[in-house]
Amino acid sequence: MALKSTNPTTTNSWNKLQSHFKNIEHSHLRDLFNSDINRAKDLTIQWEDFYVDFSKNRVTQETLNLLVELANEVDLKDAISRYFEGDVINVTEGRAVLHTALRTAKDSEVFVDSENVVPGVFEVKQKIKNFTDNVSSGEHKGFTGKAITDVVNIGIGGSDLGPAMVVDSLQFYKNYLNTHFVSNVDGDHHKEIIKNLNPETTLFVIVSKTFTTQETLSNANSIRSWFLESLPQDAISKHFVAVSTNINSVKAFGIDENNIFPMKDWVGGRFSLWSAVGLSISLALGYDHYESLLNGAYKMDEHFKTASFNENIPVIAALLTIWYNNFFNAESEVIIPYTQYLNQFATYLQQGIMESNGKSVDRDGNSVSYQTGTIIWGEPGTNSQHAFFQLIHQGTKLIPADFIGFVKSLHGNSDHHDKLMSNYFAQTEALMNGKTKKEVLQELQGQGLSDNKIKALLPFKIFEGNKPTTSILIDKLTPASLGKLIAMYEHKIFVQGVIWNIYSYDQFGVELGKQLAKTILNELNDKSKSNPHDASTQGLVDFYRKNS
Ligand code: F6P
Repeated sequence: MALKSTNPTTTNSWNKLQSHFKNIEHSHLRDLFNSDINRAKDLTIQWEDFYVDFSKNRVTQETLNLLVELANEVDLKDAISRYFEGDVINVTEGRAVLHTALRTAKDSEVFVDSENVVPGVFEVKQKIKNFTDNVSSGEHKGFTGKAITDVVNIGIGGSDLGPAMVVDSLQFYKNYLNTHFVSNVDGDHHKEIIKNLNPETTLFVIVSKTFTTQETLSNANSIRSWFLESLPQDAISKHFVAVSTNINSVKAFGIDENNIFPMKDWVGGRFSLWSAVGLSISLALGYDHYESLLNGAYKMDEHFKTASFNENIPVIAALLTIWYNNFFNAESEVIIPYTQYLNQFATYLQQGIMESNGKSVDRDGNSVSYQTGTIIWGEPGTNSQHAFFQLIHQGTKLIPADFIGFVKSLHGNSDHHDKLMSNYFAQTEALMNGKTKKEVLQELQGQGLSDNKIKALLPFKIFEGNKPTTSILIDKLTPASLGKLIAMYEHKIFVQGVIWNIYSYDQFGVELGKQLAKTILNELNDKSKSNPHDASTQGLVDFYRKNS
């Protein structure tokens, strides 16, 4: 069964939210805190090793009640059941959306076309475990009898971003295998990576759900040719494995059947790191850490399924995005992890969030009359403080921010960690409180400046504040806590899609450019060919053809 279709703007709660918005639009967070001594406590959710403080958002209890009413009016509860139970909620592609089945308990049952898919999930997990153990123990040797030292993941989009982000984020837990990621069709990219590799000790993991993606197949072909310059065809089976739903094409590429790690079409590319797409994660971290990552996500799944909406971390996070996006007209959201380990986290979420909810047609096929998917960006703190924070503090745009921090550092350097975390706390405090005219005046007077100088400087030194932030404070960066965090954002995406009444799990928007690139590639390969283009594109193609 598909999801119900309700235009959110026609609900009673949406109307009430509009009136309510007029009442609180200009309320300052400082005043909201002053008028409610329980605010911080009431708007914080403590769950497992997560302390999530929503109180620095421009909401009151009434706002949250109305947002929850909206969630109820569009029947979010029913949508959640359909999502987890394997209903065909990806209607436009005729598929279930079951990344949650990849991390569920062994004895649970999830049916697709009347078949319980859980035993199949565990079979693939066992295959991942066996292969990981064989490679990392040195039992699996390369063709010339040498142990594997390097793993190269060849994939793009969801077949790259998830594994690359997780391996980088959890590098503290890594084993001795060096892991590399080739994604861009830019030939310089894979050349830079393979130039220092020894084919005799390298394992290539080709990851492509469809096994039709131009970038991945081009990179795989070029790398195979490079490999065959040093080793014979027979060596392929020791050095190339693949992850895909398209078993025939993988075999046609020359990969041994035993070296194929299958995945199912009910796993969306951007949600696939929990499937065999995570093979590189398992190889890099060891299977047990990979399993902990999945277990962490499973715990978040259970929380999302069972917690009441006002105690539900992904639900509240999603509702806040709706509030800022559709009432305050905020266009973007920034994600700032206070750990260098999560350097690739925002990039990863860009695909998850923007490929899912960047839609302008509702579930009835009509153009929407309201805003949907937000623009996602971000970089770790404190680096980002020295880059774009100026605009968040004193610019003209409202940019809700997620601040992700950890109580414990991994290497235990408390001097640095206290400095890092003091910035984490200080920034949300500064964004919320700002600095009033009175405070600036006192400060400048304290510095002994002349009245004229103070008058000239004063307007530039004022911080309006009232900038919303959510603080996600986690005990420690571990495979399990990262699993929980990723799953939190996955469910946030789902809730937003349900409320915006869009289909979050297709991505037709990426197709047009791919089609046109094929046509243009023919023209670049064969200069006698030409197709009609607009004058600008034609000029660019001609210039390239003349000078390349
Ligand atoms: O960019 C579009 C997309 O289809 C993504 O959704 C997907 O993650 C990526 O391409 C890679 O696709 P595949 O795994 O089939 O090579």
